[in-house]
Amino acid sequence: MADRRQHWETVYNSKAADQVSWFQTHAASSLRLITGCADRDARIIDVGGGTSVLADDLLDAGYRHLSVLDLAESALAASRARLGARAQSVQWIAGDITQAELPAAHYDVWHDRAVFHFLTDPADRARYVAQVLKSVKPGGHVIIATFGPGGPLQCSGLDVMRYAPDVLHAEFGMPFRLLGHETEIHHTPAGQEQEFVYCYCLRT
Ligand SMILES: C[S@@+](CC[C@H](N)C(=O)[O-])C[C@H]1O[C@@H](n2cnc3c(N)ncnc32)[C@H](O)[C@@H]1O
Repeated sequence: MADRRQHWETVYNSKAADQVSWFQTHAASSLRLITGCADRDARIIDVGGGTSVLADDLLDAGYRHLSVLDLAESALAASRARLGARAQSVQWIAGDITQAELPAAHYDVWHDRAVFHFLTDPADRARYVAQVLKSVKPGGHVIIATFGPGGPLQCSGLDVMRYAPDVLHAEFGMPFRLLGHETEIHHTPAGQEQEFVYCYCLRT
């Protein structure tokens, strides 16, 4: 875990937030999917949020109960600095999602863009799914975006998994009902195209 954390700290300490390959000016698809399933009083966690502007977009949209978790404290610090005074209304959680202590039956929405696909060890994926099962309320929603079948084999120098929607859903299993999925082509700051798959599920 220390190696994993060090890797991401080095990434965020050596690259500007708008130069990492996963940079978005707005988290448009995530925002649309969240507003489509969650009231403004929903408790939302962005897992592996990094320096994503999803928190900014959600605050702008009127959401007030936001948590952002990431392994890299430097990424959380950059997001706090970007948000200024508004950062105080967000709960910042530094930790590894496979190990973090999360509250039970607490979140209405679990969002993850480009984090689950780094879990190449099945035991880590099982720990991740156990965290979702524990901390998302029954009736809550789970939105996961990973590289799709045509996506890259690596990101940020690390091997990744690539998922078709049914395969991604199968990782989570029966307690999660697949409500829908969509594919998005992400354009990196360096001009490359990356296929992402977004799955959105109901935690039954
Ligand atoms: C490719 S970036 C995506 C960041 C953000 N979700 C976005 O869409 O802009 C992956 C993020 O996941 C974080 N991360 C990787 N493994 C993690 C883990 N096991 N637990 C928590 N965060 C992790 C990294 O620090 C990094 O910020």
